[in-house]
Amino acid sequence: MADNRRRAAFLGVGRYAPEKVLTNSDFEKMVDTTDEWIIERTGVRERRIASDKQAASDLAIPAALKALETAAVSPEELDLIILGTVTPDFFFPSTACIVQDKIGAKNAGALDTSVGCSAFIYDCNIASQFIENGRYERVLVIGVETLSKIMDFTDRNTCVLFGDGAGAAVLGPAKRDGGILATHMKADGSLGYLLEMPGGGSRQPPSHESLERRMHYIKMAGREVFKHAVRSMVEAGRYVLEEAGYEGEDVDLLIPHQANWRIMSSVADKLKIPHGKVFVNLDKYGNTSAASIPIALSEALEQGRIKAGDLVLNVAFGAGFTWAANLVRWE
Ligand code: ACO
Repeated sequence: MADNRRRAAFLGVGRYAPEKVLTNSDFEKMVDTTDEWIIERTGVRERRIASDKQAASDLAIPAALKALETAAVSPEELDLIILGTVTPDFFFPSTACIVQDKIGAKNAGALDTSVGCSAFIYDCNIASQFIENGRYERVLVIGVETLSKIMDFTDRNTCVLFGDGAGAAVLGPAKRDGGILATHMKADGSLGYLLEMPGGGSRQPPSHESLERRMHYIKMAGREVFKHAVRSMVEAGRYVLEEAGYEGEDVDLLIPHQANWRIMSSVADKLKIPHGKVFVNLDKYGNTSAASIPIALSEALEQGRIKAGDLVLNVAFGAGFTWAANLVRWE
């Protein structure tokens, strides 16, 4: 290790997606849209939808168990569970506590974070600090969403974009020269109103009126979000590359938040990363918010798109607004 710093590495990754598939043609029957419009403007072809009985923890648990199995780490060994979601089972207790109980992580602390689509990277970056300073050996990070529960299936501007799913990773100390080399996290709360669920919290508790005004659904100013997403993801990507002393062309795989192919390709172009080095599974899952990066990471590993020694750049943008990146030398 060049600077002798203890680093955090990904020891195992897992994912889970619900069985039910909603295709673009299914949406043609629900709202005024077409398969062509959705593919051309977003890149999404289909997405997974949780059943009526499935809450966030039901998706998070199989993803977490898979990550633990791949890492060969038992639940009892976990020191901490950080779970990112904007669609928790309940306001409280946290979904992380539900997962902690159900997987038997008897020795772990547990907390949820609400960072929108940037959650998984934020949470890995937080976890990495506990590992780098020697406080913890094993941290489970989960990104999970059941966005279908807060999607307005009468609003074509938003409902075609999102999907449900979960991804998880176990982080621990790097054994060799690899691990998380650089991290970045930023926020701009002044723009939060551009992507929000206005009802249900203490600002607007649930009421007949809030239901009638459809305030318990995702509201988004798509064009504005698009603009900020590109700018911020590029800024975050550049920051971690510079911090670690690399250029875009050194990156072996870019894993951008899977929101829209036009956003992803524009970010790659600005970072000078060829499209062949961009991981894309948006067509199958839509935008799964906090779950998007870990699902992508898990599929990229399974497909052999990441091998030991590769430089992987994860970058995301989400509600808040928040944005984040980390640069990983894969072990
Ligand atoms: N089918 C057909 N037409 C549609 C649809 C649809 N599903 N949705 C919108 N349109 C129409 C609009 O009404 C508009 O019509 P008008 O010109 O008559 O008003 C037209 O298409 C163009 O609308 P735009 O909003 O300009 O379309 P744009 O090309 O910007 O694409 C989109 C919209 C896909 C939402 C894009 O802006 C986007 O991807 N934004 C970012 C979204 C995002 O990443 N969100 C998640 C961030 S993170 C998180 O935390 C969840």
